[in-house]
Amino acid sequence: MPKIQRIALVTGGTSGIGAAIAGALQNGGYRVAVNFNSDEANARAFEALTGITCFQWDVMDGAACQAGVNRINATLGPIDILVNNAGITRDAMLHKMTSAQWTEVLHTNLDSCFHMCRAVIESMRARKFGRIINISSVNGLTGQIGQTNYAAAKAGMIGFTKSLALEGAAHGITANVVAPGYTNTRMVHAIPADVLSQILKSVPAGRLATPQEVARAVMFLAEEDAAFINGITLSVNGGKFMN
Ligand code: CAA
Repeated sequence: MPKIQRIALVTGGTSGIGAAIAGALQNGGYRVAVNFNSDEANARAFEALTGITCFQWDVMDGAACQAGVNRINATLGPIDILVNNAGITRDAMLHKMTSAQWTEVLHTNLDSCFHMCRAVIESMRARKFGRIINISSVNGLTGQIGQTNYAAAKAGMIGFTKSLALEGAAHGITANVVAPGYTNTRMVHAIPADVLSQILKSVPAGRLATPQEVARAVMFLAEEDAAFINGITLSVNGGKFMN
């Protein structure tokens, strides 16, 4: 029997880890759509380079998430694999953190998971198939100086995912977390050099992950025969933290 061509959506999929995940899914034979928020020029360049269709909306906005999913349903078909990758940092020590820095990170990194999963879950349940993969972070497991907001959101994603895994298990839907360590992306390049060299000393592998190494874990969880892997947190962190 020919393999069903599954449809995958990656949020924040036009750069960094998201772009690597989208590329790996495309190479793996999936039909892929990506979401982006603001960098239209980058999205169009990504689209031209890869042939992957890019859809703009802000994952903080629940109505926009539902409308974006509806557009993908109409263009490609119903989403089988959802990768919640979109995320931001607004690092600051708590005694300097503004309410806006807290809110923006929680809305973008955690509320987005609710909005996106809510927008696809009824269809997945009706079709008795779904793969939800939420991109958390090693810092959601360990905490990090300057990241009370980000670590709270990334840890929140893990509890969210475990609960959703329980709800979906009898309906052919799995929900899992991939928790990358420090990865070679713009987000990590923004860390002050002295702090980053300190952090790298705590990575047994002695280097940053590549985005492709993170995508490898997503591919594993997206497969048809990953059906019995549910509710896990798969770390890709070079041995920095073993959960
Ligand atoms: N490890 C050890 N010490 C650290 C540290 C760390 N990760 N981060 C900060 N410090 C230390 C500083 O060296 C400094 O020490 P001293 O007072 O002895 O000089 C002290 O904490 C206060 O830091 P700053 O003076 O730099 O304070 P600041 O207010 O100017 O900046 C900060 C604080 C915003 C947290 C800044 O240090 C920073 O950006 N740190 C990096 C935070 C980080 O790791 N972010 C991860 C981004 S990538 C990501 O999030 C992806 C992912 O999922 C892994």
